[in-house]
Amino acid sequence: MNKPIHILGISAYYHDSAAAILRDGCILAAAQEERFTRNKGDSAFPHHAVGLCLDQAGITEHELDHVVFYENPLVKFERLTTTYHLTAPKSLRSFLLSFPKWLTSNLWLENEIQTELGIKQRIAFGDHHLSHAASAFFPSPFEEAAILTIDGVGEWSTATFGSGRGNHIELFKEIRFPNSVGLLYSAFTYFTGFKINSGEYKLMGLAPYGKPVYADMIRKEIIHIQDDGAVQLNQKYFDYLGGLTMTNERFAELFGGPPRQPEARITQREMDIAASIQEVLNDIVLRMARFVHRETGMKHLVMAGGVALNVVSSGLLSRTGPFEQIWIQPAAGDAGSALGAALWMWHMALGHPRRPEFPDAMQGGFLGPDIAPVSDEDDRRLAELGGDWESYPDGELQQRIAELIAEGKVVAVARGRMEWGPRALGARSILGDARSPTMQSHMNLKIKFRESFRPFAPMVLAEDAAEYFEIAQESPYMLFAYPVVGSRRVDPTEEQTRLWGIDLLKVPRSDVPAVTHVDYSARVQTIDADRNPFLHGVLKECKRLTGCSVIINTSFNVRGEPIVCTVEDAYRCFMATNIDCLVAGNRLFHRDRQQNGTMNEEQRQQWLEKFELD
Ligand SMILES: [Fe+2]
Repeated sequence: MNKPIHILGISAYYHDSAAAILRDGCILAAAQEERFTRNKGDSAFPHHAVGLCLDQAGITEHELDHVVFYENPLVKFERLTTTYHLTAPKSLRSFLLSFPKWLTSNLWLENEIQTELGIKQRIAFGDHHLSHAASAFFPSPFEEAAILTIDGVGEWSTATFGSGRGNHIELFKEIRFPNSVGLLYSAFTYFTGFKINSGEYKLMGLAPYGKPVYADMIRKEIIHIQDDGAVQLNQKYFDYLGGLTMTNERFAELFGGPPRQPEARITQREMDIAASIQEVLNDIVLRMARFVHRETGMKHLVMAGGVALNVVSSGLLSRTGPFEQIWIQPAAGDAGSALGAALWMWHMALGHPRRPEFPDAMQGGFLGPDIAPVSDEDDRRLAELGGDWESYPDGELQQRIAELIAEGKVVAVARGRMEWGPRALGARSILGDARSPTMQSHMNLKIKFRESFRPFAPMVLAEDAAEYFEIAQESPYMLFAYPVVGSRRVDPTEEQTRLWGIDLLKVPRSDVPAVTHVDYSARVQTIDADRNPFLHGVLKECKRLTGCSVIINTSFNVRGEPIVCTVEDAYRCFMATNIDCLVAGNRLFHRDRQQNGTMNEEQRQQWLEKFELD
């Protein structure tokens, strides 16, 4: 028998570092570094994620056949120096801030990665958007598909259009820096007072409160959109080429004042800006999709790049666009490119054939470290933390979880292999009753320690999803927003429509109010028995008890903290919050039975201080 080939993909040094490993082209493991270091969006070399990959493969770093980095630092450096050259002397400060890092590490990345891994073999370098494209096409269930990648910027590309067939990807058109849809959206994220690279989803969640009153002005002044979706940004309004901020005073003048400061109150202006840029983004994404459909004549589309995480655009595209089905890489941002780079190496550089897998090759996205149903080691750790639990076999545990949810309890689940990508999909999730009109507020304040203008996401039995949502296709990775069906909607009274912001969200909009946004949309996750048999069983039991196939799924973390990874993380987060019950492996913990009891306010604050607040 031939020795298997192991390929390690790495994405690092920008934000959200990650590693992924393939054995003979099959995905063995993939994870983001932040989950291990507890440092959100950690950009350091992903030692822990690499460790997971090597453990899962049962090999040492010296047994890796290929190591591939997700982009080409030399081409990226060329882009940076060209930009500085064209924008000097204004860009001098920005140049001086980033140049030393490039000289000391980024340019010598091969050496740096070899040193970090403790190996001497050559490191391969991919191409940023080809890595995104590979992460989207190769694991998808399609024989052939059109490809769309959209992000802030890679080396030079900011969006690419292409096709995948067999083991080959062809990217036939690109949009180049400084014209960038991702940077445009990030500029508005910055201007509305949210954090770039993590606050984009907040801007999207704010949009349903506003009216798109600025959309025409954005199209006229800020961005020119061609029929094929190609964009030109009017650099008169931006500062990212040579400055230290995204937008300038002229941009602020267009919107009647300076950017919102992060702690300042959100006003109607920010809501209207959010609605406007969402409308413009929808327009761009639809045009890009129509173009790549026209050019390829293919009926399926795959997507990656940070903009593919905009569930509103993707949901609209799936409902109204030209493609029969869309598949989006669950880790669509740069973390996912670690996997894409490894797949590129296997199929394109080494030429191995590809056989599409069904429902896809991502194993439900459960590619991280495992919390096994039963483990003596985890028992020992949990006992050390003072945990008191009962263990149940799978079927009984599913039944208990469903009963607790139906009673209005909040249940955290840490079980099986951790999710890959930004969304919790049921392996590190907090679950609750979607029918409760108070659950959204309760979970936000008592568990997540935040007020949020976004509702929670629904988890729904795949086979029942169309009874609740106007879904165009399955959404196993929570990557599409769909409207709640008309028959389930509740119209607010005249008086209720005069409410504002979060109060507006507290007015029930449907018979699953905790997961219905003010515009009746929901970020749907469909649960099928193939990808997630355990939660599929929980949902079926919920349906039997309550008649409802929908529950809340929110990520198992508190504000500012990465999603929990280990049983210790899970137990500590459980104890620091007001989550009623914890499921860790096949163990069930009730809050009132824990030796340490609930933390008092002072202890909780001390615990929370460890985390950066957002
Ligand atoms: Fe990217």
